[in-house]
Amino acid sequence: MNRRRKIYEGKAKVLYEGPEPGTLVQYFKDDATAGNGKKHEIVDGKGVLNNRISEFIFTKLNGLGIPTHFVRRMNMREQLIKEVEIIPIEIVVRNVAAGSLVKRLGLEQGTQLPRSIIEFYYKDDALGDPLVSEEHITAFGWATPPELDDIMSLAIRVNDFLTGLFMGVGIQLVDFKIECGRLYENDMMRIILADEISPDNCRLWDVKTRNKLDKDRFREDLGGMLDAYREVAQRLGILVETDNALTTGPRLVQ
Ligand code: C5P
Repeated sequence: MNRRRKIYEGKAKVLYEGPEPGTLVQYFKDDATAGNGKKHEIVDGKGVLNNRISEFIFTKLNGLGIPTHFVRRMNMREQLIKEVEIIPIEIVVRNVAAGSLVKRLGLEQGTQLPRSIIEFYYKDDALGDPLVSEEHITAFGWATPPELDDIMSLAIRVNDFLTGLFMGVGIQLVDFKIECGRLYENDMMRIILADEISPDNCRLWDVKTRNKLDKDRFREDLGGMLDAYREVAQRLGILVETDNALTTGPRLVQ
């Protein structure tokens, strides 16, 4: 995949120069990482599934007027996106206690939170993406107060949409992470949703069985990560239910 200039390579995706100015190609890798890259495995077919799941969600968000960088899927592993200036903050929205919140505050996993909570983490691998407050973000100029308002309102709208989408297919949205960027268009700048939304960056629990259908299967060595991602894709109607061959590539609903 070296036919285009590589702009950036992350743990799960690569960004290439796009076919026209202001666009990029986002390539989904099969790499699964956890613990800031300490744990690493190749999970054949994960990139294909995440490309389709993220496409499905971003297309719906665009349709609802929630602005995203997604333009269109190009092939099994790539999508065309708008080039944005990424804000160096990971935005986490939590509905139910899990993961680092449980560790930090000593809550019991699965406790329903009194209301949805938004957290910010500074994107810096060397520092292990530390938790930061709005004060840090505005004082250090990572985002301005109005930008932060836009980010928080985007995060709440995405949470409302995703909660309903997943509840409709018997999945509880426990928490998720998003990233935002600045889109410059005709002397105007606006904040839009970037990156991806997939089981790599959401916690998704089966409502009936409480089974984990997300990257925690990898983080916690539970096994069955790909089956869980496939299950999410099938429930959303993206993947044909009878299909289980990922070595030959999943048969996808067009
Ligand atoms: O680990 P923690 O509980 O803080 O994660 C909260 C949510 O953010 C989880 O859904 C996790 O998958 C996601 N996340 C992520 N990328 C990170 C850290 C967390 O997608 N670097």
